[in-house]
Amino acid sequence: MQACNLHNLPENYQMKYYMYHALSWPELLYVAESDDGKIVGYVMAKMEDEDLEKDEPVHGHITSISVLRSHRKLGIATKLMRASQFAMRTIYDAEYCSLHVRVGNRAAIALYRDTLGFDVVKVEDKYYADGEDAYDMRVYLNKDKKKEEESKGESTAENEESKEEKALN
Ligand code: ACO
Repeated sequence: MQACNLHNLPENYQMKYYMYHALSWPELLYVAESDDGKIVGYVMAKMEDEDLEKDEPVHGHITSISVLRSHRKLGIATKLMRASQFAMRTIYDAEYCSLHVRVGNRAAIALYRDTLGFDVVKVEDKYYADGEDAYDMRVYLNKDKKKEEESKGESTAENEESKEEKALN
């Protein structure tokens, strides 16, 4: 996994960071192997629980994903992402899955937005070491929850509007 990451991305990690993920959330890590047993793709993810005190719902986070050039455009990343997201929802009851991606990474953005249904939540200014911005993206894993959140937002907006109207009258 580490070798594949070093080939594909400028964001690299020490071995202990891989171990931390693998030992803490083993169900969220997947690799794709070629016929001869070489790892040609991986997804490494975690559960975010440090924000629970701030009332943030339980959610998963994709730390890193990549596929070797020789094996791209075969649907491997899609399968890896779906497997990890499925485990987030069924094992950890995660409400949504989040990730960061470079704003210039067209292939990955197409994967997340067009194939997997992620939306951009915000832009993180100069998120990466070289100064590039990141999109903070999110997909709801439980569609009913998403509707609930949206209708909460709408009713809050409606309440605000009616308060404003009352204040004007
Ligand atoms: N250009 C445009 N869209 C693309 C491209 C591309 N080169 N590659 C994939 N996509 C989009 C397409 O919408 C594609 O659907 P389609 O095949 O029906 O057109 C969809 O993604 C699914 O493609 P997959 O075959 O599942 O993706 P692949 O296995 O090739 O892996 C990945 C995509 C992971 C982005 C790969 O290109 C890669 O490893 N890139 C370098 C590393 C990287 O950028 N990783 C993501 C960093 S962000 C993070 O780790 C959270």
